[in-house]
Amino acid sequence: MVVGHDMTPLVDALADHGHVVVPAWLPADAVQALRADAEGLWQAGRFRHAGVGRGADFQVRPEIRSDRVLWLDDAVTTPALDAYLGTMERLREAFNRALYLGLVEFGAHLAVYPPGAHYRPHLDHFRNTRHRVISSILYLNPPEWCAEDGGQLRVYLGRDPQGEALEVLPAGGTLVLFLAQRFWHEVLPAGRERWSITGWFCRRP
Ligand code: OGA
Ligand code: MN
Repeated sequence: MVVGHDMTPLVDALADHGHVVVPAWLPADAVQALRADAEGLWQAGRFRHAGVGRGADFQVRPEIRSDRVLWLDDAVTTPALDAYLGTMERLREAFNRALYLGLVEFGAHLAVYPPGAHYRPHLDHFRNTRHRVISSILYLNPPEWCAEDGGQLRVYLGRDPQGEALEVLPAGGTLVLFLAQRFWHEVLPAGRERWSITGWFCRRP
């Protein structure tokens, strides 16, 4: 799908700012293929309520996050998802080559926010682990998405979840990358169904 994509501008922007937003990173047909697969997996009952914490700490806390997710693994493969993972693998290699980040893996889940769902301000790491280095979100919605539809990703630029923030509309094909442990972020309540693939480039735990 994005074979031949020049990844240098992405890598440079992340190195300079710690975050980058790329509208139309993926062409509409590739977004559509991923979305169709995601909906098929949803209809097959494969998604679960997302939670917070990990292992024994895991809890479903809908007042904190109310999306549903499906982690991508060997039991969840489709040609479009494999192509996506292949692209992210090349991006992982590009980050390592340019920035010596020592990223050893990329793990991702599909996510759907039903109308009204949200995710309160958080950092992307679990209490006891620091191995998530870069967060990545690719939106699988139609390309037209306006502020009235809600569901914006808000990335706070300061040290706390307040003040100046980037606000990203989850329009289909938009890719967002940011440093997972540096930027507080939240998902505002979605006014319509909101689809995405969220993943993390990780160091060795
Ligand atoms: C997450 C997250 C943001 C988004 O899943 O951790 O912050 O825009 N997602 O979906
Ligand atoms: Mn997050």
